[in-house]
Amino acid sequence: MRQGLAASEELGLTLALETSCDDTCAAVIDGSGRILSSIIHSQDVIHEKYGGVVPEVASRAHAERATVVVREALAEAGVGMTDLESVAATVGPGLIGALLVGFHTAKAIAWGRRLPFIPVNHLHGHLGAVWLADEQVPLPLLVLIASGGHTMLVRADSRRQFSLLGQTLDDAAGEAFDKGARLLGLGYPGGKELDQLAERGDPQAFTFPIALRGQDTLDFSFSGVKTSLFYLLRDMTAEQRGERAIDVAASYREAVVEALVSRLMQAAEREQVPAVAIGGGVAANSLLRRRVAAAAEASGLCAVIPSFRLCTDNAAMIASAARYSPRLAFPHYLSVEATSSLRLGQDVY
Ligand code: KG4
Ligand code: ZN
Repeated sequence: MRQGLAASEELGLTLALETSCDDTCAAVIDGSGRILSSIIHSQDVIHEKYGGVVPEVASRAHAERATVVVREALAEAGVGMTDLESVAATVGPGLIGALLVGFHTAKAIAWGRRLPFIPVNHLHGHLGAVWLADEQVPLPLLVLIASGGHTMLVRADSRRQFSLLGQTLDDAAGEAFDKGARLLGLGYPGGKELDQLAERGDPQAFTFPIALRGQDTLDFSFSGVKTSLFYLLRDMTAEQRGERAIDVAASYREAVVEALVSRLMQAAEREQVPAVAIGGGVAANSLLRRRVAAAAEASGLCAVIPSFRLCTDNAAMIASAARYSPRLAFPHYLSVEATSSLRLGQDVY
């Protein structure tokens, strides 16, 4: 066991930072896991003109905002630096330059105050959002994590013990939404805009393929549905594309959501769990939220559907996961580094 490493226990008032991709986030939670503040500075407007996250640009924007979000998080929580009892930060996976900014800012704050420091796996953070949303959720629990970078089915036997049941073989669900939105000429990142447009359309108007359907696997694939959308739009006139955009968006969303929900429920049945949950930015999708709630109710399962702000990247979920992660006592974290690739269940030491 690494020197200075302690098992998770009461952390007291915790400041957490999250900068793994393009949101600069800081949050404060108290010892009982109550969120006192959660500040999210989105970089969407910065990356919009490139049509995707530019890692170097994201790192610089994090560096400009990191101390600002910390100050805002402390002010909104009504606490000062001297009140903090522990500091946490996302250690990976993510864009390494982006991770380094939040990780070292948090480490410096912990070091300066001689506090314990908790490096948190970002994937465990999305699970941490589930514990924030429902403190009483029964275990074992099946969680669908769907974001711009990940699509996976996770079985949680405790708040520390996770197993990966299935994942995407190619694009993430968020990528499928973002690329679809781009083909439809919607904004960036596009998932939310496509969702809003789809609310007004007919989901049966067009048929999109659902990969691996009926197969004995809990994996996903979204490259086919995106290609199918490309060909559908290519073969339409500009006028048709305009007139049918709402129905195309609704049918496309239907296929992506059906793929996600059917796998989640298939896994829940196979694993015989009492509860299911969703997390990650795609869990903000209105159809996905409705379908998971309905499917769980029909199967007699408890469903945890976190609020929008807890689904997309945020630091409150990192603070929540920190409560169930090993912590490092001062000064044993100085040599700990962020890492771009970290698997589910993996810690940095
Ligand atoms: O978890 P997140 O904030 O960041 C990553 O770790 O990727 O997820 C962002 C993703 C983007 O792909 C975004 O388009 C998608 O979540 N997203 C949505 C919705 N809101 C955000 N996708 C579908 N429907 C939405 N309402
Ligand atoms: Zn995420």
